[in-house]
Amino acid sequence: MHVALEDGTEIVKGVDLAVNMDEVHAVMGPNGSGKSTLAYALMGHPAYEVTEGDVLLDGESLLELEADERAQRGVFLAFQYPHAVPGVTVTNFLRSAINSVRKARNNGEDDPIPIPEFRKEILAQMDRLEVSRELASRYLNDGFSGGEKKRIEILQLAMLKPRIAILDETDSGLDIDAVRVVANGVHELVGPDMGALVITHYQRILNFIKPDFVHVMVNGRIVEEGGPELAHKLEAEGYERYGKAA
Ligand SMILES: Nc1ncnc2c1ncn2[C@@H]1O[C@H](COP(=O)(O)OP(=O)(O)OP(=O)(O)O)[C@@H](O)[C@H]1O
Ligand SMILES: [Mg+2]
Repeated sequence: MHVALEDGTEIVKGVDLAVNMDEVHAVMGPNGSGKSTLAYALMGHPAYEVTEGDVLLDGESLLELEADERAQRGVFLAFQYPHAVPGVTVTNFLRSAINSVRKARNNGEDDPIPIPEFRKEILAQMDRLEVSRELASRYLNDGFSGGEKKRIEILQLAMLKPRIAILDETDSGLDIDAVRVVANGVHELVGPDMGALVITHYQRILNFIKPDFVHVMVNGRIVEEGGPELAHKLEAEGYERYGKAA
């Protein structure tokens, strides 16, 4: 896949990546190498144009679909920088998101989740992910601390149960205990029904969500691939050996 900005500048310069259910893939790479651009393009962000290649889910192209339609098919992106939505509470946001996925899966007919079921699920997930209950009634990400925003992204993941979860530096800004809690939360969701693409700068989160593959992205391309040991090597050696581009 190649991805360009609206002005034609190519950022992702030919990335070939397949994530199967039950697999965790880590993408690591220096700042500005195109990791978030790759994530946005997979999700269908309108500012990024896929100029070559394709994005396939179960063999079906997603390129013509809007971000919400991709979400309904089961693609999920936890943002590196989550946006605040003043006026919309976490609870209402999650319920609307779940209901629109349910509607899409019910051939466009409304099929809202019963309130008691929703309540039970959100409380259970919040406890599991150690998200303060007080956050549920606040406006989405409005005045949330950096770590609270990241936890709420993973709460969304746990509630929406996508097929492919893309996490863009979800570990950045989390304290040491929170990395463990959040990573374990993701780890438990990975299985026959979900695969994950984890973008990170640090090997630490990979101790808890063990990657099957590690891909190194430099200057818009995957320059090296390996197993979990590659993440350790990168942490020890940095990106210098990939040359000036890094
Ligand atoms: N909308 C945009 N407008 C202009 N430049 C952009 C835009 N999106 C990305 N870029 C540029 O593309 C390059 C790659 O950015 P990207 O955010 O994908 O990097 P990254 O690998 O996620 O970096 P980091 O590790 O710092 O998060 C950067 O030079 C960035 O400035
Ligand atoms: Mg980024």
